[in-house]
Amino acid sequence: MAIGFHIVREDVHSRARAGCITTDHGVIETPIFMPVGTAGAVKTLLQQQLDQDLQAPIILGNTYHLYLRPGTDILQQAGGLHRFMHWNRALLTDSGGYQVFSLAKIRKITEEGVWFQSHIDGSRHFFSPQRVMEIQRRIGADIVMAFDECTPYPCTHAYARNSLQLTHRWLDICLACFQEQGLYGYSQTLFPIVQGSVYADLRRASAEYIAAKETAGYAIGGLSVGEPEQMMYEMTALVNEILPPTKPRYLMGVGTPWNILESIALGVDMFDCVMPTRNGRNGMLFTWQGIINIRNKKWATDFSVIDENTTGPVSTYYSKAYLRHLFVSNEITGLQIATLHNLSFYLQLVREARKHILQGDFLSWKNEIIPRLKSRL
Ligand code: GUN
Repeated sequence: MAIGFHIVREDVHSRARAGCITTDHGVIETPIFMPVGTAGAVKTLLQQQLDQDLQAPIILGNTYHLYLRPGTDILQQAGGLHRFMHWNRALLTDSGGYQVFSLAKIRKITEEGVWFQSHIDGSRHFFSPQRVMEIQRRIGADIVMAFDECTPYPCTHAYARNSLQLTHRWLDICLACFQEQGLYGYSQTLFPIVQGSVYADLRRASAEYIAAKETAGYAIGGLSVGEPEQMMYEMTALVNEILPPTKPRYLMGVGTPWNILESIALGVDMFDCVMPTRNGRNGMLFTWQGIINIRNKKWATDFSVIDENTTGPVSTYYSKAYLRHLFVSNEITGLQIATLHNLSFYLQLVREARKHILQGDFLSWKNEIIPRLKSRL
């Protein structure tokens, strides 16, 4: 079965929708946030915690990292990434179109693909759309991404246009060699990626090009790369006017809690970001009352729980004072508690958004809570 999507309710006051994605590895209620498990692990967590404590229906992996380590031979021998990491829910892999440009040392971009040097050992590799499709087939995620160039910000209109045209030509190659029947007995789905930097004409052209492909879902890339937030919202709104309303839309690499709520209001269904995990490991906690830097001395004797309004395994269990102590003492348990709390919060945030879309009061709820979510405690 290819993935399916149906909309349960459309908000009448905004473009938000509550929907359901069905995959061979379970149902994903949308809007959804996908925790990032770059190299086959969400850093500090066990798969059991993601599944049972956080109820995450889908997580993300990265082609770039998994190709370099452990490599596709080992992944294929293991029977794919699901079996290798013992994760029975859905998986999405990013194509490397972002990581190769942000992590690797680029040697050469050609019509055929990208020559790069590994950030791990300096070894030389080549990613083409054909190779990236083959690698993602062997990794075996339910949703795989087209190979694209995530344009840097800022970039000139001419650079963005040329890059976009290359991304479109690569997309055609990805579509031509993509096979829905996967290697491991379940199907895979390919999402193309809209690019175009912050240029409305390019975004429009890209969204039209990609919408015509009639894939099971669509992604918006090249945003949250340093442009002003308002520009990101404008581009997202413009693209969502063009993408078919009946298919899921995935805004890649976004973002803060308020970025997610504003983008849901613009019609986005899927998100991923390293922010809850990476910033959590640096002591930044997202709560329903605002943002906490847990290393701050002010928490040293605050014995109240981390966040009384976040449900999950740790948020109402451990105190701020205890978590601060773990951070300043470099106890690795602190990294796990912060990760569990932030992901509990992000997953609850999208579940609450869905609840309010279903109730019909999403817009007023969003506008009321955003100032609080942004505040620094
Ligand atoms: N992650 C965040 N942004 C992007 C993007 O533009 N392309 C890809 N492939 N991944 C991303």
